Amino acid sequence: MARNSVSKQSQTGKPSIKPSSAGKGANNSMLLEFFGEELKDIYYAEKHIVKTLPKMIKAANSPELQQAFTEHLELSKTHVTRLEEVFSTIDKKPQAKKCEAIEGITKEGESIIDETEKGTATRDVGLIMAAQKVEHYEISTYGGLAQLARTLGLEDAAELLHTTLEEEKEADETLSQLAEEHINYDASEESEGDEDMEDDEE
Ligand SMILES: [Fe+2]
Repeated sequence: MARNSVSKQSQTGKPSIKPSSAGKGANNSMLLEFFGEELKDIYYAEKHIVKTLPKMIKAANSPELQQAFTEHLELSKTHVTRLEEVFSTIDKKPQAKKCEAIEGITKEGESIIDETEKGTATRDVGLIMAAQKVEHYEISTYGGLAQLARTLGLEDAAELLHTTLEEEKEADETLSQLAEEHINYDASEESEGDEDMEDDEE
């Protein structure tokens, strides 16, 4: 991959950041601006995830899934902070821009809670699927951003974004394992009225 070694010129003139090719030309600054806008999007998404996860933790049935969501909540807080660092590498103040995609995906997760019975593995199956949709959104966004940072010569930003990307992949893998190891099976074994719930089936 051709990496440009154009000398840096940060927009504010601060010398602290690693070389970027921000001063390279009109196209490049357009791309840098796009990069900044995408950062705002994922920054919003991470903050939104931090707000949503407690509901998922509460709704989950299996202790392992609760644990996985709890860990992901902590991880997401780290991701918010890490994004703030990324903003600083391009001399920008952290700013969030409403991300309709993550709003939609998390809304779907909430509707799964409404549509499934409390205390069932079926609900856990639904929650895992919803959480993996979130993960995949994040994986594609971080993957694209890390690559873009590299193209722009923003090595510090690229490294930070890549670290988060790897953590998102791991979180996704953990969820797949939970589903495959037993939650999907447990759900396949349960039928309506199995649970110790009042039989209000109607
Ligand atoms: Fe994240």
